[in-house]
Amino acid sequence: MCGIIGVTADPEVYGNVVPRLVEGLKLLEYRGYDSAGFALVECGTGRLVVLKDKGRIDDIVEKYRVTGYCAATGIAHTRWATHGAPSRVNAHPHMDCSGRIAVVHNGIIKNFAELRAMLEERGHRFQSETDTEVIAHLFEEYLRQGLEPLDAFRRLVSVVEGAYAIALIHLGEPSRIYFARNVSPLIIGLGNGFNAVSSDIPSLLPLTRRVLALRDGEYGFIEPYKVYIEYRGRPVAWSERVTHVAWSVEAASKGGYPHYMLKEIMEQPRVLYETYMGLLSSDEVQRAASLIASAGRVFITGAGTSYHAGLVFAYYMATVAGTPVYAFIASEHETYANLFDSDTVLIAVSQSGETIDTLQALRAARKRGSKIIAVSNVVASTIPRESDVAIYTRAGPEIGVAATKTFLTQVLALTLLSLEVARLRGAVSESMYSESVKRLADSGRKAGEGLERSSRQVERLVGLLKEVKSMYILGRGLGVPLALEAALKVKEVSYIHAEAYPAGESKHGPIALVEEGFPVIFIGADDGDMRDRLQSNVMEMKARGAYTVVVGSNAYSGMKGVDMYIGLGAFDELTAPYAVIPPLQLLAYKLAVALGRDPDKPRNLAKTVTVE
Ligand code: AGP
Repeated sequence: MCGIIGVTADPEVYGNVVPRLVEGLKLLEYRGYDSAGFALVECGTGRLVVLKDKGRIDDIVEKYRVTGYCAATGIAHTRWATHGAPSRVNAHPHMDCSGRIAVVHNGIIKNFAELRAMLEERGHRFQSETDTEVIAHLFEEYLRQGLEPLDAFRRLVSVVEGAYAIALIHLGEPSRIYFARNVSPLIIGLGNGFNAVSSDIPSLLPLTRRVLALRDGEYGFIEPYKVYIEYRGRPVAWSERVTHVAWSVEAASKGGYPHYMLKEIMEQPRVLYETYMGLLSSDEVQRAASLIASAGRVFITGAGTSYHAGLVFAYYMATVAGTPVYAFIASEHETYANLFDSDTVLIAVSQSGETIDTLQALRAARKRGSKIIAVSNVVASTIPRESDVAIYTRAGPEIGVAATKTFLTQVLALTLLSLEVARLRGAVSESMYSESVKRLADSGRKAGEGLERSSRQVERLVGLLKEVKSMYILGRGLGVPLALEAALKVKEVSYIHAEAYPAGESKHGPIALVEEGFPVIFIGADDGDMRDRLQSNVMEMKARGAYTVVVGSNAYSGMKGVDMYIGLGAFDELTAPYAVIPPLQLLAYKLAVALGRDPDKPRNLAKTVTVE
């Protein structure tokens, strides 16, 4: 949460970095958007200029005429508030007393209160309520005490506790940016005549594709022609760790769509195919499957959408591979800690590879000797790096805060994994295995077909649902995790309450809310297996006056008591997620737009949650 970026360049070679900072910061806006700011070492005057405020980046850039400035070194920040309400004074960058040091930070400094008290006692005056400001004053304090800047920064890193990605500049070394990483992600972008640091890879793409992911505890500095990294006081040899990312700049742009979310929904046919081809031509899935096949116990964890992908995996593992898998929400990992041992495999699902809850679950299991499999969309992010096997989805950068294309690519990767385990355990024959794998090549086509077939009715449904306050989304079997995911999408971007649960649970309580016109969406996620049982649930709801919608395969057409049927073509359980989910994502998107919400930046949310 919060995005930071810093660029330092040789002005002769590279010119003004301000437009690059603005562009990069806008690509980070999905990480938080309640305030933003820039600290620039101004060309010519050599002054430290800080421009910041509450609000969206575009408005701040316009209000303070940011692009009218020239700088060869600068840092910038987009905020998701933790300590201190969104306001100009709490916006980053934060400065020291002298106004010669500026810092941006993502994370939480746990011991900030005691550091602040100590610094105030020494005469430092604080402007904000943030934890971050202590970093600027601490650096100032160590310089005052006579330490060389690198020593001061080293000392600072040894004193601050908590999660942080930091970028700091000071006028004593105007072309240097100090950085430090602990828990919160930080990436270095390497260039010719410039270097950069940022919270993520997409924001670096307009600058470079040569990146280096910093590890916990690493700190150092960048200059236009130098990168220096240390870990616990010793220099780190980093050149072998540089990766060339395959993502293009276009992949991180809206590509003509009004919102990233819409673009990312529409990209699903292509990225599903790319993920499928990529996984078939690597051995990631096979290596993970052999770990699982020889394990005594299998857990899968993740947060939000990634947890829902985990539920789909648990479903296939039970029904196809005949293997129990315990799926749990990552932030609840302590409940399961006693069950992790060396005979356990934990699958950690995280598109960003940085979610703190998932990372902590992973570390808890690893500490007890469990083997870890990561499923992630970001190469070299922390979760895959700390795992024994990493399975990568090939969805390209996902910028919209609501996860869309990464969900279905996770589902695809996990389905291939469940099939491979089923084969290794002899739960399916070789021919059934190959036939199923072959059919998954169609996942992208199913997604395209689902979107096409549903478009008119989705529009109609938006017209009806935009007026309601609440709805149910129900399913059975595989339909349950799909309903959970659909409900999360509706809630996140439209702010309409949507609750998902197994359709059979209706009569155990939730039906009490149903009255005339209450919308209930049923998901038919198979080729008709659940039709009869779902039919009874539809009738129960209809009898209480519900407005009933069925979204499902052809096998669900012609049911009684249905007010709207959205037929998505022919599919069975193996291919259902690809046909069912995109129309429901589109429904959520269109509801958000119809209600005047910004689907790319839903209130109170940040894409990558790196604080507990
Ligand atoms: C999904 O739409 C949400 N924004 C959120 O639930 C997300 O899936 C969750 O925070 C996990 O993120 P990750 O996949 O990057 O770990």
